[in-house]
Amino acid sequence: MGTKNKVTHMKSRIGVGIVGFGTVGTGVAKVLLGNASLISRRIGVPIELLRIADVDVTKDRGVALASGVLTTEVNRVLTDPNIDIVVELIGGYDTAKRVILDAIAVGKHVVTANKALLALHGEEIFEATTRKGVELGFEASVGGGIPVIRALTEGLAGNTIESIYGIINGTSNYILSRMTLAGHGFQEVLRDAQEAGYAEADPTFDVAGIDSAHKLAVLVSLAYGTPINFKDIYTEGITNITPTDIAYAKQFGYTIKSLGIAKLIDGEIEARVHPTMLPATSPIAQVEDVYNAIQLVGDAVGDVVLYGRGAGSMPTGSAVVSDVIAIGRNLLKGAVGRVPVASFQQDQRRPLRLRSMEEISSLYYLRFTVVDRPGVLAQIAGELGRCGISISSMMQQGRREGQTVPVVIKTHTAKERDVQTALREINRKAFVSEPTTLIRVEGKDE
Ligand code: NDP
Ligand code: HSE
Repeated sequence: MGTKNKVTHMKSRIGVGIVGFGTVGTGVAKVLLGNASLISRRIGVPIELLRIADVDVTKDRGVALASGVLTTEVNRVLTDPNIDIVVELIGGYDTAKRVILDAIAVGKHVVTANKALLALHGEEIFEATTRKGVELGFEASVGGGIPVIRALTEGLAGNTIESIYGIINGTSNYILSRMTLAGHGFQEVLRDAQEAGYAEADPTFDVAGIDSAHKLAVLVSLAYGTPINFKDIYTEGITNITPTDIAYAKQFGYTIKSLGIAKLIDGEIEARVHPTMLPATSPIAQVEDVYNAIQLVGDAVGDVVLYGRGAGSMPTGSAVVSDVIAIGRNLLKGAVGRVPVASFQQDQRRPLRLRSMEEISSLYYLRFTVVDRPGVLAQIAGELGRCGISISSMMQQGRREGQTVPVVIKTHTAKERDVQTALREINRKAFVSEPTTLIRVEGKDE
């Protein structure tokens, strides 16, 4: 690597090629071209956008490019000797992985925003990167424009990360906030998010919590130096959240957010994605629309909250360009590999046990749909009590004798295993007319 670094030290420019000229690719091109002189003053040499490959090179993307930059052939990016950094922005698994591994194999540095790929094949890509002695940047893979990857790998490198709480899917936050603030319907808001370019190619990834699980896997991997398969992360989407629950949450002083949560407990990891009720006064409960926020708790620093646009062409472009600049700087100073790709030295990563969902403890919001008649509440409370679950508050509004009513109970801290056992019993009762809604609550016992 020493010889190579001496050669790169004399570079007079950094060459960049993009594969995938869609929402994010367009943002990257706009940032690189629009801020070219500023960027050059910051790193010392110009960054030149030499090629962009996409299947469609005829569509007007609103970016003025020199002739010959656009190509339909990905290989023209990979084989161009003037390109130092290949930026993968096509998304998906197979082709994207091939582009990245092929680029690494020919000694190119790589930047990607592809959290889905990293969540599934991160270890293989990290190893290939380390083996080849090239750089891999993936700042845009979590939190859109928020520099959370750099915060974890550099800013908080001296801390044990005790916990991570993240609103890390812009689309679901956009949907939940529009439902909460404007009373809009789910489908209508999802359509808006798709039109704005926030949603994934398959929006199920957004609303089913899968995209958040991808991002949480990336954060856990960096925070704890452990390999983790996102499929092992408990994942629950927002599709079952109703205006009724949003209204009850408000009455209890809570806001419902889709959260990615990770905790380090006794050397083991808890990692889960699900709708969560948060005290309405907490910083991340205030995060609306497509904004994301990530609260990192370090043993030395305490709480750090990062906030910003979690999706969209220009914010994500900003994050991608930050990687290009970081790699460019390392190339110019002969410092490739200065920061290990996955935050820990590759041979110092250790598998940590991931706790099952049954092992977690939380406060719970439970909404029962039951027939309104004397004794029903007592039976519910009795079943919860038998499972060792303590009730902190209870709410039934209105009297509709003999008809169905919602009864809402908030619990003190309870074990998930016990809550699920109690709900199985309660849901079997004749007075229960539909399955009980469970939403976990972050907060302290009152
Ligand atoms: P888009 O679908 O808008 O862009 C992808 C582009 O790549 C499309 O123009 C597509 O063409 C093109 N493409 C697909 N396959 C190939 C191929 N084999 N060769 C060349 N071009 C190809 O996606 P986004 O820009 O939204 O997302 C890109 C990546 O960034 C994804 O990994 C996504 O998860 C991630 N990301 C996206 C964010 C966002 O806000 N949109 C935010 C953070 C990360 P065609 O349309 O014809 O298929
Ligand atoms: N679909 C993702 C979101 C894009 O809505 O957050 C950003 O990763």
